[in-house]
Amino acid sequence: MNAQEQVAEMKRAALAAFQEAGAANDAKALEAARIKFLGSNGQLKALKELLKGASKEEKPALGKALNDADKELTTAFEAAKSSAGPAKQSGPAFDPTEPLPPEKAPQLGRLHPLTRTVDQVRDVLHALGFEVVEGPEVEDERHNFDDLNIPKDHPSRDSWDTFMLSKDALLRSQTSTVQVRVMETRKPPLRVIAPGRVYRPDKIDATHGSTFHQIEGLYVDKGVSMADLRGTLRLMAEGLFGKGTQVRFRPSFFPFTEPSAEMDCTCPACGGPGCSVCKQSGWVELGGCGMVDPNVFKALNKARGDNAYDPEVWSGFAFGFGIERLAMRRHGITDIRLFLENDLRFLRQI
Ligand code: DAH
Repeated sequence: MNAQEQVAEMKRAALAAFQEAGAANDAKALEAARIKFLGSNGQLKALKELLKGASKEEKPALGKALNDADKELTTAFEAAKSSAGPAKQSGPAFDPTEPLPPEKAPQLGRLHPLTRTVDQVRDVLHALGFEVVEGPEVEDERHNFDDLNIPKDHPSRDSWDTFMLSKDALLRSQTSTVQVRVMETRKPPLRVIAPGRVYRPDKIDATHGSTFHQIEGLYVDKGVSMADLRGTLRLMAEGLFGKGTQVRFRPSFFPFTEPSAEMDCTCPACGGPGCSVCKQSGWVELGGCGMVDPNVFKALNKARGDNAYDPEVWSGFAFGFGIERLAMRRHGITDIRLFLENDLRFLRQI
């Protein structure tokens, strides 16, 4: 077989190998054929070596045959490659969308629904200039009662049944204590919200717990009115329950506000027509609010020893909402106990 014939023979074999591997969609075999015929130690390379020993007459024709073979085989290889799939895996195919088995899946945490409810309220009020503050959970009678215009032996104290720790130490029964804490140390004007835990020796049932959370709001400035209160709380309700949520005030009584109101919003479950959640009324109760009673300002002036909260100059509004209640309304939850049981089956759902 002369050199020309060897080139032709190699070309035939290579074309056959490329074609076969391409048709079988066998990328591994195709790659093996490439190495065998076109690789740096392959047959084409070996045949090119024959050029060196070729006679002057033979050389041009042999050179052309080798070049043509090179081009043709490269094209044939590329064509076969584009028809063959990716290299076959030896094991089972890898599917990146397949979920990991539970024992291998990363355990993703999430925020507690109460935290998310506070965050939502905070986002709305932060945009209105309110700042988040905190107060202690172990309090004294002055902060929990006296300076909030709840005198000793007054029947209104009964509304805030309290866990006493010692003669003058108690677990706060409302976050309104933080109103006193803030006004003691700061001068008006101020806008604060205070989320936190409160404690009451209540009988535990689907809507009462002995430990729960409230969010308190206090705004003191010149000329603050009930309209500011209503507008602020409407924005808060919209943030929690969606645009278009309406609010209404019902007259109420709290010792530290005058006038006082209970605030309701349109039922998040039915949007107004009435359902079992709102007992067919179209409204659900959210919490208490009102205009800061001048007696609270006076008590604070006394505690501070100045007249920083002159009730003739400053006015303010306050509100206090149960965070569990807000979260229950938001998510349609009917049992308050679920929030503190740490049952992941419940927490993962919302
Ligand atoms: N502290 C009250 C409670 O626990 C709620 C409340 C009502 C807070 C009216 C306020 C308010 O600031 O103005 O029942």
